[in-house]
Amino acid sequence: MVTGLAYSHSGATGIIKERMDAMGVMGDKSKIVANMFKGKTEFNAAALIDAADAFVMHGTGMAELFPDTDASRNGHKTEALPKIWDEWQEFSTMVDEFISSSKALKETINSTNDIGTLKKAFFKTTKNCSGCHKRFRKPKD
Ligand code: HEC
Repeated sequence: MVTGLAYSHSGATGIIKERMDAMGVMGDKSKIVANMFKGKTEFNAAALIDAADAFVMHGTGMAELFPDTDASRNGHKTEALPKIWDEWQEFSTMVDEFISSSKALKETINSTNDIGTLKKAFFKTTKNCSGCHKRFRKPKD
């Protein structure tokens, strides 16, 4: 497994580190692709495929990384809000939406080379990232 060390907060351990690492991997990959679509770097289909695959994989495993345990709720360095478990239905719906949009992104990649269409599908997926963070993650100070 690839770890997103650059993104995981030093000091996090166990389940908290595990989910921060998974999120960090997605964060790394989406930054690369976002820069491509913003014209900062050259378009590279392999990087887009790589990101979409990571989204599907980590999306599929995401719910399991948020068990309702004391370590998961109150672990050192976690930015996860208690709302995740108090409103689990809502949270897991957001996970499902993220999985769906990631799979849709894969399908778009497989069916077109049109940059505009790919860009739209990519940013539709990353909207699910920010949507969930806004609701279920502590705001950055
Ligand atoms: C369904 C909810 C949800 C979705 C979807 C989601 N995240 Fe997260 N993300 C979280 C939560 C909650 C945390 C805080 C976890 C913690 O601190 O324990 C987090 C944390 C992170 C972090 C910080 C990791 C760290 O080391 O502190 C990054 C980066 C991140 N997410 C990127 C992404 C990206 C990129 C996507 C989409 C491609 C995404 N996330 C999709 C809920 C989500």
